[in-house]
Amino acid sequence: MKKRRVLAGMMALTMALSLAGCGGGSSSSSSNSGSAESTAATAATNKDKPLCWFNRQPSNSSTGELDKDALNFNKDTYYVGFDANQGAELQGQMVVDYIKANADKIDRNGDGVIGYVLAIGDIGHNDSIARTRGVRTALGTGVGEAGNVDSSPAGTNVDGSSKVVQDAQLEVDGKTFTIRELASQEMKNSAGATWDAATAGNAINTWTASFGDQIDIVVSNNDGMGMSMFNAWAKDNSVPTFGYDANSDAVAAIAEGYGGTISQHADVQAYLTLRVLRNALDGVDIDTGIGTADEAGNCLVEGEDYRYSEEDRSYYALNIAVTADNYTEFADSTKIYDKVANQLDATKSPEKKVWLNIYNASDNFLSSTYQPLLENYDDLLNLKVDYIGGDGQTESNITNRLGNPSEYDAFAINMVKTDNAASYTELLSK
Ligand code: BGC
Repeated sequence: MKKRRVLAGMMALTMALSLAGCGGGSSSSSSNSGSAESTAATAATNKDKPLCWFNRQPSNSSTGELDKDALNFNKDTYYVGFDANQGAELQGQMVVDYIKANADKIDRNGDGVIGYVLAIGDIGHNDSIARTRGVRTALGTGVGEAGNVDSSPAGTNVDGSSKVVQDAQLEVDGKTFTIRELASQEMKNSAGATWDAATAGNAINTWTASFGDQIDIVVSNNDGMGMSMFNAWAKDNSVPTFGYDANSDAVAAIAEGYGGTISQHADVQAYLTLRVLRNALDGVDIDTGIGTADEAGNCLVEGEDYRYSEEDRSYYALNIAVTADNYTEFADSTKIYDKVANQLDATKSPEKKVWLNIYNASDNFLSSTYQPLLENYDDLLNLKVDYIGGDGQTESNITNRLGNPSEYDAFAINMVKTDNAASYTELLSK
């Protein structure tokens, strides 16, 4: 509860309304639970079983268009992620605020140009695209229409001649600085794994070897890559580094000069990932324990913790900026959220078996933050989850391990590539 207080003022109205929703809804939710069909899925065919896509939203990796077929695979299909645009704006604003607050010392070589480098996670992933756009938009370096600026990697742009980004001007305390994206690249390794932290560590070494004195800020689409660059170079050179995810190691590094990160409320997402499955398995209203309190007292606040889009069949957790001002409240990224920390009654929500995969067992965010949270919530929700870790490269590495879907009551899927939903739905349709 404590860390959410930062939003208290802004969210006061929403909260009042939504808390009323939690309280008012509990009676209707108990009548829902009373009618729970605990055996619903056991007899179901695989194509009718609850399915939750998470973290990688089924979509076209070139255009970003949502894959509505995958999102509507059956009546119990949902996506759980976070609000990528709201988070991207926060990340961009966090960098601008830092520059303004530190204008007297940020331009390390005093050439009047504030130079930054950017680590891009996956050029075909909506979250990554939004974050690149968010940073470029806030800093004024984006090219193209608002909301749709070019998110392509710029390569190196030390002379400011790139067509993908442009130089911007920022005035602080009467002094005008040029802001330049000196370099950016997709951090994909030779085997094809994206968001690759080791690749980001190599990139910062290459960049700093030729234009290190011009780099005043390091920005990354996530903390995994951000921490790799921070540890390889930025920390020793006192260059602020901004990431995304609020993994525990990155939050701790704020004490050592890491500039800041964004919490994508993984505690809310991990809960929702399993909760939508639980509700479908119990045959209760989908809002149970989400916007409407369940019998155990679990209830989130819509508008503060998440938003739901019926059209996209998607739950989006809301993001919070984590900086030197508040980081101590985010120290443990694997701690369950106190609003939804109550054990469900096993007589009404009996044990069910879930197949769940993580696209890349080495992904920092998913392995160090998301999966530990899922493991905390599965007990509370009486779900027995088999966790499958992929290699981050091929879908078949994962689908090969879904040999017998009939063994499971529900599925939670994290694709390697957002275009590949059919690789899974085909298996469930057989
Ligand atoms: C996270 C990244 C992660 C990616 C995996 C993003 O939402 O911020 O850290 O690598 O998901 O799909």
